[in-house]
Amino acid sequence: MQRPTLAAIKGIATWLPETKLTNSDLEKMVDTNDQWIKERTGIEERRILKGKNLGSSYLGVQAFNALKEKVGLEPMEVDVLICTTVVPDYKFPPTACLIAEECGIKNAFCYDMNATCTGFLYALDIANSYVLSGKYKKVVIVSAEKLSSMTNYNDRASCILFGDGASAVLVEASDNGFGIKDTLMRSETSGAMDILFKGGGSVYPATVENVEKNWHYFTQDGRAVFKQAVLGMEGVARDIMERNNVTKDDLKFVMPHQANKRIIDTIAKRLGVEDKVVTIIQKIGNLSSVTVPLCITEKEDELQKGDKLVLCAFGSGYTMGAVYMDWAI
Ligand code: UT7
Repeated sequence: MQRPTLAAIKGIATWLPETKLTNSDLEKMVDTNDQWIKERTGIEERRILKGKNLGSSYLGVQAFNALKEKVGLEPMEVDVLICTTVVPDYKFPPTACLIAEECGIKNAFCYDMNATCTGFLYALDIANSYVLSGKYKKVVIVSAEKLSSMTNYNDRASCILFGDGASAVLVEASDNGFGIKDTLMRSETSGAMDILFKGGGSVYPATVENVEKNWHYFTQDGRAVFKQAVLGMEGVARDIMERNNVTKDDLKFVMPHQANKRIIDTIAKRLGVEDKVVTIIQKIGNLSSVTVPLCITEKEDELQKGDKLVLCAFGSGYTMGAVYMDWAI
């Protein structure tokens, strides 16, 4: 078995539903206002998936099909399909299996990975290792998040944050010397309960009482999370740059998870990369594991082979990670 020396992102596509939920829409639903939302989060609108009985797999299928068209990917050639999501269609079967069935991906093994908002980067680390092992050639990461399904639209503190969307990313061996140069994944578990979806698991199974307590919705200690998100993302981004002797001048873009514009601005300032940081939260809100791939597609037209990128993310757990790579397409 021949082992490649480098893996790379060789294709990427994203898909967002058409329906927009704007700040002025939210003003009619809860006691909030456009100015507060913009000042505290940077968010102006998010996309919401409408339609009966459509879950995250629906979003993932659209993203995979867009990737297929874009790069001419044959579904039967996919060796591994990893779906990153915090809102799977069901507890089981894995949402990845539902996406594979719908998309005709018949020769892959498929599973879900929940590493919350860092899910895409953990999956990219795994995909990189699979490809470098020589055992698998084409690994696809579908990140699919119907976050509106876990959002309490009576809670003004959280319902302003989330949207729905998906991405699909193909990781393969690099044939041109450009690719994933380093990955750095961490967990800081002392704050594990700070972002919580309490009900429906094995501790508090879905019961009428638990649903009446709103335990089937997202909750967080926003201020505690804010501080840890800044420390966590700044830490992994700084460490991966230092250990690869990369300076801010070497980078084309820094692409962080989009949870709050103030978090993004703070880490950009601390790292001195204000002119390199990608901010798209105003248009999409927080899309959990989809935000980093969306940053890539947002800037894809400006990217050239060899451009250096740092991707970083932070989420419930706490999970965090950074990837340093060259753009290889
Ligand atoms: O993706 C996973 C990682 N997640 C994150 O990184 C999220 C990190 N945290 C945050 O982004 C921020 O903490 C939030 C955006 C969630 C909240 O912003 P904040 O500046 O921390 O606000 P707060 O929760 O401390 O609330 C400040 C005030 C409160 O009023 P009082 O107690 O000062 O009178 C809230 O009741 O703002 C009030 N408030 C609102 N007012 C208008 C909370 N939500 C709203 C709202 N509209 N939507």
